[in-house]
Amino acid sequence: MPAPLPVIPKREGEYWTARQRQMHSLHYVVSYRAAFKPELPDYFIRRYTKAGQIVGDPFCGRGTTVLQANILGRYAYANDISPFAVWLTRAKTNPVPLSEVCSFLAGIDWEGSVAESYPPELLLFYHPKTLHELLLLKKSIREAETPVARFVALLAVSRLHGHSPGFFSVYTMPQFSVPPQAQRRINRKRRQVPEYRPVLPRLLAKAKAALRDGQIAKIRRMSMHNCYTRCDARTLYGWQSESVDLIVTSPPFLNKVDYLANNWLEYWFLDIDPETFGAQMLQTANLEEWQAYMACFLQEMERVLKPGGVCVIEAGDVLYRKQTINLDETIAAALAAAGCRFLQPLEVLIQRQNFTKLSHCFAVTNNCKGTNTQRMLVLQKK
Ligand SMILES: C[S@@+](CC[C@H](N)C(=O)[O-])C[C@H]1O[C@@H](n2cnc3c(N)ncnc32)[C@H](O)[C@@H]1O
Repeated sequence: MPAPLPVIPKREGEYWTARQRQMHSLHYVVSYRAAFKPELPDYFIRRYTKAGQIVGDPFCGRGTTVLQANILGRYAYANDISPFAVWLTRAKTNPVPLSEVCSFLAGIDWEGSVAESYPPELLLFYHPKTLHELLLLKKSIREAETPVARFVALLAVSRLHGHSPGFFSVYTMPQFSVPPQAQRRINRKRRQVPEYRPVLPRLLAKAKAALRDGQIAKIRRMSMHNCYTRCDARTLYGWQSESVDLIVTSPPFLNKVDYLANNWLEYWFLDIDPETFGAQMLQTANLEEWQAYMACFLQEMERVLKPGGVCVIEAGDVLYRKQTINLDETIAAALAAAGCRFLQPLEVLIQRQNFTKLSHCFAVTNNCKGTNTQRMLVLQKK
C-alpha cells in the first residue's frame, strides 16, 4: 500500500516583486537555463535564518541561493553535478575589484600569437580576429589561475553569445549556445557573417555592470567559508550530517532543459568535457523515475538538515502526457514514499504575479498569458 499523502496547507500571494533585475548586479552576470529570481532565496533566507547560519543549495545552477546567502551574511554550501554550475557559483561568489580586472586585461598582448586549436564551427559565431583575441584570453586565464583570472573568465563567459553588439558573437541566442547547424541557418536567414567585435571593451563594460553594486569585500569574507561540491544531489559527500540551517533549491523539472547541449560554447571556453558528468545528470522524461529520484534526495535532505532546519524546493508545473502536473505534489508523494521520519511538510507557498516580459516563460506551462505561478514546497526537520 502506498503511504497516504499528507494534506499540506497552501499560502498564496505576491511575496516578491515581478520586476526584473532589482537585486545585486552580480546575480545577473551570466544567464542560465531555469535559474530562479534572487528574490526567491532572499525571501526564505530572511524568513528562516539569521546572520552566520548555513544555507545550502544541492542543485545550485548559477549560484543564486549561494550568492544571496553570502550577501545577507550567511555561509553557504553549493553543490551541482555540473562542473560548469559549480565553477560559475564559485566565480560569482569571489568577485574582485574593477581595478584588478583592468590590470589583468591590460597585461594581455592582444596582438600576440597563440597556437591553440579550436573547433572550426566557432567561426559561425566569431570573426577570426575576435576568435584570435578569445584564444589569447583563454590562454592568459589558464596560465594565471588566480581569482582575478577566474572572475575575468566569468565575464568572458557572459559575453560569448547573444543578440546585441555587446556580445562577442554575431546575432544568436543569449540564453543558450545554439548548435552549429542551427547557427548556420540563422546566419543564412539573416544574411549575416560575424563582424570583428573587440573583446577588451566588451569585457570592461561587463565588469563595470557586474560590479556596480559593490559589497565585494563582504561577499568574499563570507564565501571564504563556503563549501563547493560536485556530487549527485542524493549523496552530498562533504556536507556533514545535521549541519545546514536552510536549503533553498530547484531540481531540474523532468527533461525540460538539456544542460549539456545548451552550454557547448561555455564548455569550450572553460575546457569542460561534458562526457565526464553527462550520464549523472537528472534528465528524465519519466515522472515515476523523477519521483523515485526525489525520494532519495529527500532522505539526503533529512540527513544534512539541522533539527528545526527548513528545506524549500521550487518546482513548477509541467505538461506530462497531456496533463498539467504540479511537481510540488509529486515531491510530496516522494516524501511519503521516502519514509523520512523527521522531515515534514510545513506548507506550499504559491507565488502569483503578473508578467510583463514573456522572455521569462519557460519550463512552466501556465505563464505564457501574462501570469506566472511558482510553487514552493516548504519542509521542516523536526
Ligand atoms: C533548475 S537548475 C537550478 C537553477 C538554480 N536554482 C539557479 O537559480 O541558478 C537545476 C540544476 O540541477 C543540476 N543537476 C542536474 N542533475 C543533477 C544531479 N544529479 N545532482 C546535482 N545537480 C544536478 C543541473 O546541472 C542544474 O544546474
